[in-house]
This record gives sequence, structure tokens and C-alpha cells, in this order.
Amino acid sequence: MEYQLKQYALQQGALEIQYIEEFFLDFPRKKTAAEVVQRLAERDHQILMAEAPLPDDPGMIVPVSFKVAHELRAREHDPKLADLVAQLEDCVEFDGRRILYQWIGGTRTDWRGQGHFRALTEEQEVWALANGFDEILVKTKNRFYEMRAALAQLHYHVIQFVPSPIHSGESKVFLSKRLGQHVLDSHRSRRSVTKAD
Ligand SMILES: CC(C)(COP(=O)(O)OP(=O)(O)OC[C@H]1O[C@@H](n2cnc3c(N)ncnc32)[C@H](O)[C@@H]1OP(=O)(O)O)[C@@H](O)C(=O)NCCC(=O)NCCS
Repeated sequence: MEYQLKQYALQQGALEIQYIEEFFLDFPRKKTAAEVVQRLAERDHQILMAEAPLPDDPGMIVPVSFKVAHELRAREHDPKLADLVAQLEDCVEFDGRRILYQWIGGTRTDWRGQGHFRALTEEQEVWALANGFDEILVKTKNRFYEMRAALAQLHYHVIQFVPSPIHSGESKVFLSKRLGQHVLDSHRSRRSVTKAD
């Protein structure tokens, strides 16, 4: 199977993310287009989406999976990002290195387990290396079992664990992948990527 990926420019990409999160994802995160634009506008970023046919109407191609990543710097002004950097200080080297933060992503329920997230992840890694990034970081929670399983399968390593005082399911798990030719050599998906404005 050849995965059909689209890389979006910021404004259109933000609308696509809002649409897929609002209507098709089963967890209550739901970023608005405005939030996406605000987060990404001043930093290097990538908005990637996978598309696939509807099973009962194969002529209809729909977005089924997405990943949004952005640069994370040692000194961030946004309080959320500053907090993120502070939590990672002990385990991520920022000096002289480019860090990509995998911010949001997911696959629509009916299309899970078909390799769309792997294809997006591999394409993101190609882009990250080509753009000078050294490492990709991602944050999840203990209770996001599917995401943890997928990240393990995609060879992301746990680098930090922040226990929740309230419920262990809410504890944060930080994972990372260091980039290099070995990462590209491990890729398996066949993909075609188009650019959308
Ligand atoms: C996690 C998620 C993105 C995976 O998407 P997907 O398109 O189904 O993933 P893929 O089919 O590309 O699978 C990627 C790899 O992870 C593995 N994987 C995916 N889901 C898995 C699961 N539930 N259990 C075990 N392994 C899993 C696949 O086997 C695959 O490995 P392989 O290529 O070596 O066989 C999707 O299940 C999802 O959106 N879940 C909800 C996300 C969520 O909880 N978000 C909370 C915020 S982090």
C-alpha cells in the first residue's frame, strides 16, 4: 500500500486540524485553528496529514490521520512551552541542537491499525533530518495506552516520567527519538507526499 500524505502550509493546515479534531477524534483535546496558528506562526513547523478512501464510497478521499510538530527552543516565552522545557532540562540537550516537538496527532478510529501513523511518523523524520533537527520529542500520558504502544513500536524511548499526584493515569511520559541516517534506514512505508497551500 502507498500512503497518501499531504503537507500543509499554516493557514489551511490549521483549518484541517480543527476539522479532524472536532469531528473525528475521540478524546477531548480539540485545538481550534486559531490556537494552532498562534502556536506555530513564529517557529519552524510541519503539518502533515494522511488521506484515504471511505470504505463504502472509495471515490471519496478523506483525512484520516495527522501529525503536527514544531521547533522547541531552550528559551521559550509561552508559559506552556517554558514549562515543557523546564521539565526536560535534565534529559534533553538544547545547546547547539535543534529539537522538534511532536505536539498533536492521531488517527480516526475506523482507520487505526492500518499504518497511517507510521507513514506520517516516517515522513516527519525525513523532514526533520532534512531541516537540521537532531531529536524529536513527544509527550503523552500513562492512560493513553494506544499512543504509548504505537510510540514504542516506532522506537521512541522514554526519557522522563512526571508522576501525577492525583491519578497515575494522568502521569506524564516523555519520549524521544534521536535522528540520524539509522532512522531513515529503518523506514518501511511507501509514501507519496503532496504540498497543499
Ligand atoms: C496511537 C494512534 C495515533 C496510532 O495510529 P494508527 O494509525 O493506528 O497507527 P499505525 O497503524 O500506523 O501503527 C503504528 C505502529 O504502532 C503499533 N500500534 C498502533 N496502535 C497500537 C495498539 N493499540 N497496540 C499495540 N500496537 C499498536 C502498530 O502495530 C504499528 O507498528 P508496526 O508498524 O511495527 O506494526 C491512534 O491509535 C490514535 O489516534 N489513538 C488515540 C490517540 C491518543 O490517545 N491521543 C492522546 C494524546 S497523546
